Amino acid sequence: MNIEKLRKDFPILKDGKIIYFDNACMSLKPVQVVRAMERYYYEFPGCAGRSMHKIGKRTEEEYAKSREKAAKFINAKHGEIVFTKNTTESINLVSHSIKLGKNDTVLTTDKEHNSNLIPWQRCGARHEVIVTNEDGTFSMENLKKILNKSVKLVSVVHTSNIDGVTNPAKEISKMAHDAGAKVLLDCAQSAPHKEIDVKRIGADFIAFSGHKMLGPSIGVLYGRRDLLEGMEPFMTGGDTVSRTTYRSAEFLKPPEKFEAGLQNYAGAIGHAAAMDYLNGIGMKNIERHETGLNECATKSLSEIEGVGILGPRASERSGILSFNIEDIDFHQIALMASEMGIMLRSGQHCVHSWFASRGIAGSVRASFYLYNTRDEVDKFVDALKKIAALR
Ligand code: ALA
Repeated sequence: MNIEKLRKDFPILKDGKIIYFDNACMSLKPVQVVRAMERYYYEFPGCAGRSMHKIGKRTEEEYAKSREKAAKFINAKHGEIVFTKNTTESINLVSHSIKLGKNDTVLTTDKEHNSNLIPWQRCGARHEVIVTNEDGTFSMENLKKILNKSVKLVSVVHTSNIDGVTNPAKEISKMAHDAGAKVLLDCAQSAPHKEIDVKRIGADFIAFSGHKMLGPSIGVLYGRRDLLEGMEPFMTGGDTVSRTTYRSAEFLKPPEKFEAGLQNYAGAIGHAAAMDYLNGIGMKNIERHETGLNECATKSLSEIEGVGILGPRASERSGILSFNIEDIDFHQIALMASEMGIMLRSGQHCVHSWFASRGIAGSVRASFYLYNTRDEVDKFVDALKKIAALR
């Protein structure tokens, strides 16, 4: 990986004034992605699936190619990919369309982003929580204990946005399937950073977002073809049907039946360019690079008095580092770091439930990506030393 070379693709990094460590929230975009979207807007700004003219046909082709790329990225098939607004919408689609009853149960972990918690609190089924270990790692034992015949879906985060812990997706899927439940994986924090193979993992649904993986704001839902076919659309409208009468509608096959109205074509095209970019670097290289940065940052931060780090050792936390400095408010730390040119996220990271359950008010979070460097980590550590010295 030639970091210095690839950094040139990200104009915001050019003058070295910004250290961007808020990648778990939103990633930066390389020029290749913005150019791909520009091409759509300037050269063929049509809509897919409707118009016979050349511009419409070109949009249709590019949109289909983008879907194909999204499918290949996770080793799925074309018809198994639905484009949505974001991971949140992908999960909401499943929660509305899967049709659960009051005698059914959905399991999530106790570390879910609100996007994989609230939909299940409101889906009409019972919702139970799998308690994770004290260090934030997944407990297969607790899953085993809580699984019973009423469990129809196990919907869990793959990589946590709080502490970067990646759950054993394949083992979870196997155990859930053996108990007769389906599995949804929230891959918002894993798909941008590691290889995902849905067939190997065996999950029934996977949700992730383009904007955390160098792309624009768009969401992806993978669903097993037979399951998508059996599900009712979440939202209805133009291009979801083959025919309507005043009293009825005949729905198309998935993915079309789930994509109502004009779609985010520029987003899908930009997302395809982002996946090309990531594939060009190699997901294994990206994962290794980020874990290396995290190990280095964790080691240095642990030596600063007053710093406490959330979760297990760095090698188990991908590229995410959540911490607190005793007696200094986490938002204040992020504000001071921002003044020094370092972008961090602070607060409860949309996982209020976990912070409340552990009695932790919040944390500061640094999250790394492929364009971050050791030099940036050193500057970050120096900044934190200065902040900690204010206590
Ligand atoms: N889930 C995003 C984050 O953790 C928004 O920052």
